[in-house]
Amino acid sequence: MYKIAVIPGDGTGTEVIREGLKVLNVLSNRLNFKYETITYDLGGERYKKTGETLPESVLDEIRKTDAIYLGAIGHPDVKPGILEKGILLGLRFGLDQYINLRPVKLYPGVETPLKGKGPNEIDYVVVRENTGDSYTGTGGFSMKGTPHEVATQTSVYSRFQVDRCLKWAFEYTRKHGKKAQGKGKTNTLALVGKTNVLTYVYNLWERAFHEMGAKDYPDVERGYYHVDATCMWMVKNPEWFDVLVTGNMFGDIITDLAAITQGGMGIAAGGNINPEGVSMFEPIGGSAPKYTGKNVINPLAAICAAGMMLEILGEAKAAKLLDKAVSEALGNKEVKSLQAGKMGMSTSEVGDLIAKKCVELKID
Ligand code: IPM
Ligand code: MN
Repeated sequence: MYKIAVIPGDGTGTEVIREGLKVLNVLSNRLNFKYETITYDLGGERYKKTGETLPESVLDEIRKTDAIYLGAIGHPDVKPGILEKGILLGLRFGLDQYINLRPVKLYPGVETPLKGKGPNEIDYVVVRENTGDSYTGTGGFSMKGTPHEVATQTSVYSRFQVDRCLKWAFEYTRKHGKKAQGKGKTNTLALVGKTNVLTYVYNLWERAFHEMGAKDYPDVERGYYHVDATCMWMVKNPEWFDVLVTGNMFGDIITDLAAITQGGMGIAAGGNINPEGVSMFEPIGGSAPKYTGKNVINPLAAICAAGMMLEILGEAKAAKLLDKAVSEALGNKEVKSLQAGKMGMSTSEVGDLIAKKCVELKID
């Protein structure tokens, strides 16, 4: 029996999580796994009422669950940063979810802005370190408000943080790289950095990467790209990539670029993973206030996030079936577009469609 903490959060979060839970329910019936959900009302409305973002008592309760399923965080009435830092980053840091896994996969039938590229070319994974870098809050102001004001926000990495992230990325590449999937000749992990300018932080990453790779993962091919060049290749030659690993800030930036190449925020899902603890799964699109309550937002990213959650919980069969259902719905153009309001059906109808496929499709 899995215990799942559900945090619908703000805006369209509620609508997309509802559809994800619909699909989860169908899968649990068909594939005989059991779960219970505990819903938490964390988000902008609670903050407006109580001034709380993520109370310690809630975090402690969530520590006892098996996974977190999160909708979206961000409210138009709340100053940017408060909810994001308090809730989203509060959970990531509080639960030491040190991996942010972001698959970049173009499903068949989905339009990409990359000319001449299809599902065979856009199919890789970004492993973003999730607890360090300029996200640690190290820094501050001095002489604030004067013409001499100075602001710093430092990129911070310890060898420990880098090593544990790299280890996870190497293991992941060995198990899920292109060779392991029968799609290529090698399993390749490439470090994305900036060793020509950030000569401390990415020098540490680079040394740790090659030391670990040479010693423990000789079977995994190693690559390196500067982050700026990565942005070019993500557009021009995404087929070069298998698994990419990078720091928190670069990872944040390149995964938005990656997301648009796979069809945008309607489909992009991510996992915040603590391999020894509680992991959290979310669509990465945000709360979309403009579309809230209209039943027009695309729930596929949230549904795919539920798939990632099933995979990590050990329900690989269910995860695979969910992926097949999404792939078919898109491949057959049953869902016409990934954009809110242009799907040719409502949010709940997309959920119904995927749920129906999860009942009817053959399990391979
Ligand atoms: C993401 C988001 C968050 C981040 C924000 C909302 C704090 O952009 O999940 O990529 O920067 O990590
Ligand atoms: Mn981001």
